[in-house]
Formats: sequence, structure tokens, C-alpha cells
Amino acid sequence: MEVILVPDPAAAGAVAADAICALLDRKPDAVLGLATGGSPLAIYDELARRHRAGRVSFAAARGFTLDEYVGLPADHPESYRNVIDRDFVSRVDFPPGAVQGPDGLAVDVEAECAEYEAAIGRAGGVDLQILGIGTDGHIAFNEPGSSLASRTRIKSLTRQTRMDNARFFGGDVAAVPVHCLTQGLATILEARHVVLVATGAHKAEAVGQLIEGPISARWPATVLQLHPRATVLVDDDAATRLELGDYYRQTYRAKPDWQGI
Ligand code: GLP
Repeated sequence: MEVILVPDPAAAGAVAADAICALLDRKPDAVLGLATGGSPLAIYDELARRHRAGRVSFAAARGFTLDEYVGLPADHPESYRNVIDRDFVSRVDFPPGAVQGPDGLAVDVEAECAEYEAAIGRAGGVDLQILGIGTDGHIAFNEPGSSLASRTRIKSLTRQTRMDNARFFGGDVAAVPVHCLTQGLATILEARHVVLVATGAHKAEAVGQLIEGPISARWPATVLQLHPRATVLVDDDAATRLELGDYYRQTYRAKPDWQGI
């Protein structure tokens, strides 16, 4: 796991955007794994800026989102299909239909989840997966207790996650759906490169566990310790629980320029 400590979210966004632009340079039809939530916004803002400046194109790329609420109407502004469109897809030049997500209104949920896995497989797998992390250590919507071998499936959200996400639903926890469809931890581990962004003091405990804690379903993000190419971008506020912060800083400073992340 490569740990990069950055001063603020914008710096994390720039490092991740560099990696995505480098990927698209060498593979214009790359498959991106797209996360929703606040964490990736700085990445999407930076990519949208670079796109406007003519520095990057998504015209041949494809995308898969991580997860979706169950039961929100298709036109609900907080369905992740609409969130990712608003936050990123509509701001760059993906062709229509190039970005898919699991269908939270599917009648046959198991068939939908299996089909979503198959669609990722048909696209050749995810080249670079963007991730955030929940305050309880979830990635995508893999809540504590998730099988480390899980695939795309239906999950129940914890009270904590529903409270965290209530800010998107007018502050009303009751309006946050109870169920979701989410890529599993094993699905995420198959992405060829995983880039997780964690910013803010409320993420410090989860970040400490993710990077330096034991691998455990109690903190699902810890499964990324098994990934051969995981990059974790952490801002100063989220880094306060790390024991080896000086080592991560020193290692990144000494990294050869040609290496990228
Ligand atoms: C959400 C999403 C995750 C996201 C996480 C953190 O519920 N399902 O993909 O990474 O929680 O969200 P945020 O980045 O807004 O803190």
C-alpha cells in the first residue's frame, strides 16, 4: 500500500487526477471505477478543469459506479446514478451510456447484481478504481461485517452511515434508504489500481485502521492491505492517528519523479 500524505483535499485531487490522465494517455479506452460522496469531488473538479483545457478526454473511456441506494425513484437527485452524472460524467465527454451503475429499482436483485459483475467483466475489468471511505471504515457500501470475499449484492446500511449521508437528504435520516446494492470487497480488489481518498478529521480513525490496523471485517477497508497496487491519499486532518506518518512523508518525498503512483 502506498500512503501519500497531502496538505488538503485539492492536493489529493491533483495527485489522483495525474494518475487518471496518465492512464488515459496510455489507454484511452480505460475502465474507471467511480465513487460518489464528498471524497472524490476534488478529483472530479480537477479532471473537469483539465478536460475544459483540452488536456484529457473520456470519449473512449467507460465507467462503473460502486453502489446505489435501493428504491429511490430514477429521477431522485440523490440516486447515485444522478449524483455521478451531476458531479462528474456530465462535466466531461463520456459518450452516452458509457457509465453504468447497479439498478436500485431492479425487481430481481440477485440477477441484477450478477449482471453487474458480468458487465464489469465484459468491459475487461476496472483499470483504476476511485474510492472514499466511510467513518465506520466502509468502502463502497460494504459495511462492518462484510465478507472480505463478497461480490455485488444487497446490503443494509448502518445507522452511522445513514446519519452521515442524511446531509444529502435535507438532514432527515429517515429519508436515507435502508438498503443498497454495492460491489463487494472481492469485486473491488479485482480493480488493477485502487486510489482511495480520505480527508477530514472525522475520517482519522478509519484511516488509522485502514493503513495500520489488522485486516478485519470490522473495518472493511482494511481488505485493501491485500491489494497489490493500492494508493491511499490522506490529508493532514485525516492523518492524525497514523503512527508512521513521518515514514510515509519521507518515502513520498524520496520517490523518483518517473514513477507516478
Ligand atoms: C458513501 C459511499 C461511499 C463513500 C463513503 C464516504 O456512503 N457509498 O462510496 O466513499 O460513503 O462518503 P464521503 O466521501 O462523502 O465522506
